[in-house]
Amino acid sequence: MSNSSARVYIDTNRTIGDISPYLFSGFAEHMGRSIYHGIYDPESPKADERGLRTDVMDALRELNFRLIRYPGGNFLSGYNWMDGVGPKAQRPRRRDLAWKSIETNQFGTNEFMEFCRLINTRPMLAANLGIGTIAEAAALVEYVNAPAGTKYADLRVSHGYKEPYGVEYWCLGNEMDGPWQIGHLDMDEYARKAREAAKLMKWQDPSIKLALCGSSSTHMPTYPEWDRYVLESCWEQVDYLSLHYYAGNRDNDTASYLASTVQFESQVDTLAGVLRYVKTKRRSRHDVYLSWDEWNVWYKDRLEDGRWSEAPHLIEEVYNLEDALVVAEWMNVFLRKADVLKIACLAQIVNVIAPILTTADSLLRQSIFYPFQLFSRYASGQALDVLTQAPLYNTRLYGDVPLLDAAASNDPAAGSSAVFLINRSQTEPLAAEVIWQADAPQAIKAIYQISGSDPRLANSFAQADLVTTKTLSGMPIDGGRATLQLPPLSFTVLSC
Ligand code: AHR
Repeated sequence: MSNSSARVYIDTNRTIGDISPYLFSGFAEHMGRSIYHGIYDPESPKADERGLRTDVMDALRELNFRLIRYPGGNFLSGYNWMDGVGPKAQRPRRRDLAWKSIETNQFGTNEFMEFCRLINTRPMLAANLGIGTIAEAAALVEYVNAPAGTKYADLRVSHGYKEPYGVEYWCLGNEMDGPWQIGHLDMDEYARKAREAAKLMKWQDPSIKLALCGSSSTHMPTYPEWDRYVLESCWEQVDYLSLHYYAGNRDNDTASYLASTVQFESQVDTLAGVLRYVKTKRRSRHDVYLSWDEWNVWYKDRLEDGRWSEAPHLIEEVYNLEDALVVAEWMNVFLRKADVLKIACLAQIVNVIAPILTTADSLLRQSIFYPFQLFSRYASGQALDVLTQAPLYNTRLYGDVPLLDAAASNDPAAGSSAVFLINRSQTEPLAAEVIWQADAPQAIKAIYQISGSDPRLANSFAQADLVTTKTLSGMPIDGGRATLQLPPLSFTVLSC
């Protein structure tokens, strides 16, 4: 094999696991202009009669988020859900201590549920385990999921929502290992509080699924001991362990940045090991899976202080081509870890470190919008264990790494499959020969590609389509093989 060619072997019998649709989920926090001026913006000419931005909802529908986690984030740990329900005129204005911003509470749980319904997604709600109590957590489950006839369910009915929502996915707090968290807890304190909250929440509704706070980053000194400890305390009560990570090219080292998958895979592998250890130690028949419920690139805009204003411009990261490639690689990791990773929420969805930016009357799709859209659309069924042979290149952070990153999915029920390929080279095209070892499709129906010559290329309101998906025509697959030229700095999806 030459320095400019690679092989990808695909065998539909070599499966990793079912691809959970919840790998294509998002996260919306009361922070900056995410909710206000993002999702909810009654002053905008683009708002509907409810105050929801129709252009934002249209763009979010294109991404087809299967779950959206809400309302935080660090905001969650100071939030009293009662402030956000009932007549809007009576809702309090509050100081949000997480982001030093003013929270008007004009958007709350019921508005979020309506928003989810309109964009055809499911909610993943969260209980405040910072300064919130376990009683408030249980009351929220009652408010949201219980039939009429008791205090909090009747409160919901009195607010105009007769039917219970049946929300299935819930988080037990947010990043409780972080000293920055409002009401931060040590691991033993969190484990105890989460276990009791889980108990009451599941007594309210035994059908719900709970995500326990794992480590907020691999950089935490308590990683991964925190994860082991809280899992040992709460194993039977919970269904998911959360992990968070934000990637970035902080040292202007694109070669290393494009090899971030090494970090992502190692994080999942470590936590998968912790899950196996705890399950065995507890002699349990119960399974807990991973929920990567905050992930994205975030390193350029660190403005986190709202100076006590409403909807300030906070962490409005501008995304470029290399960020889009890292997002694509990250989602390849989701497929390669599909056996243990079942939820992943892009943090966040609008304005705040998001694929979408808004002004009062317009909307921009950032570079990362496009890889997310392609995975959300084409990765389904089962993840395949792809064998890749590719030349290596050297990186400062991770040593030698293959130039090609690959993943594949096969959906027999839908009669479709897909291959996801990233060429990490900044200068050279790569000839990738894809070899189907079983069940070769007749043809590649279409090829979708994101590429460019400058890793820093970014869309702007003035030039909105510099980084976008190009559709190339498909090609026949002869004798189970097809060869494609992958441009440098490119992400390519083969839809078969
Ligand atoms: O997504 C922004 C913030 O990042 C979230 O509020 C917090 O959970 C994480 O540290």
